[in-house]
Amino acid sequence: MENIHLETEFCGVRFLNPFILAASPSTDSREMVARGFRAGWSGAVLKTTSVESDVVEIAYPIMSSLYPGHQMVGLHNIDLISDKRIDQITSDVVWLKERFPEHRVIVSIVGNNKEEWEYLIKRAEEAGADLVELSISCPQGSMLEGEEETDGEMISQDARLTEKVTRWATDAAVKIPIYVKLSAAVTDLKSIARAVERGGANGVCVMDSCEGIVGVDLKSLSPLPSVQGASSRGGYTGKAIKPMALRCVADIAEAVKIPISGVGGIYTWRDAVEFLLLGATTVQVCTGVMHKGFDLVDDLQDGLKRWLLASQFRSPSDIVGLSLNHLKNNDDLVRGVDVRSRINDDLCINCGLCYVACRDGGHEALLFSEDRKVTVDDDRCVGCGLCAQVCPVPDCISIQVV
Ligand SMILES: Cc1cc2nc3c(=O)[nH]c(=O)nc-3n(C[C@H](O)[C@H](O)[C@H](O)COP(=O)(O)O)c2cc1C
Repeated sequence: MENIHLETEFCGVRFLNPFILAASPSTDSREMVARGFRAGWSGAVLKTTSVESDVVEIAYPIMSSLYPGHQMVGLHNIDLISDKRIDQITSDVVWLKERFPEHRVIVSIVGNNKEEWEYLIKRAEEAGADLVELSISCPQGSMLEGEEETDGEMISQDARLTEKVTRWATDAAVKIPIYVKLSAAVTDLKSIARAVERGGANGVCVMDSCEGIVGVDLKSLSPLPSVQGASSRGGYTGKAIKPMALRCVADIAEAVKIPISGVGGIYTWRDAVEFLLLGATTVQVCTGVMHKGFDLVDDLQDGLKRWLLASQFRSPSDIVGLSLNHLKNNDDLVRGVDVRSRINDDLCINCGLCYVACRDGGHEALLFSEDRKVTVDDDRCVGCGLCAQVCPVPDCISIQVV
């Protein structure tokens, strides 16, 4: 594995590896970030901050999930930005850079008007931060003062505002690279990414939490998490949002030339590789770390190295965007090849789940005998693949060309 190195570059800045801690509670304390760096993360986006006069008061509890415990597929929060203001964040930047000169400290900011955005950039740059992430996609809202005729509730839902804020930031930055974090909750993400590029940003990041309501408590009738009997719309994150995040990365990769940092649902090295293949040059992790701890990065680094070696690549940058050629419009997919479901009788546990799914959601193509044996009626089967998805036994059902 000596020939494989994980170093990469994002917005012209060198990273020891592509794995960055996303803005989150894990990055809201310099001591926690220091532990993250020691564990192997190459950079951290400190939790979003704003100007000194902004007061942030959080209503607790802020967390709920689908589904709690071992099966958690998505975490849900009604968190706000950090309650630390830019003055404290800049002293954390200095503290971290003194101790970790090779690691990248990224300051995430949100302002209410032009002066605030400019001030925050200046403070981050003076403190020695490596990059600035513009937070314009928080589901709890991030609008500009005095802007009424806008699309949506956050800056990143409006291409004109996105370009305007990006331009303020890039004009205010002397040398520090600026990139912009976007939301999936837009009609046309490509047009928003182009606005970021027109605004002069060095890069783009996607995606922020997905606005949602995770559930309702059936005793109190309060949406979750319940804060004394009520809740608000919140941000949904973790495994469940990975498909949206991958789609967003691919959309942006097709639309602009600036580099992408991908985030959303990454728990394993396989997830990370998928983001790189669809166009990300670095990846960020939030929920995975909140759930499994900083040591998650061991699996990310080791798995990526082994996969690169086995696939005869030498570095993460070799694989950025390689799957984009395989992403086509549906009209351009190959049609007319006969495929059918094939069941491995040696592995089948005769549970009948495939039979029921096919009967009521497929093509009524599976037969279930009295002794619970499943067989495929090739005249009815179209190879849709539902049976293979509901089967609880890995590799028991496959879809094959006949
Ligand atoms: C509790 C919590 C707090 C977060 N706070 C911020 C924040 O302050 N700024 C920000 O840009 N994103 C914030 N995020 C969003 C994450 O950075 C990330 O974009 C999102 O969680 C998707 O990644 P994941 O699936 O790896 O969690 C927060 C997420 C969670 C779960």
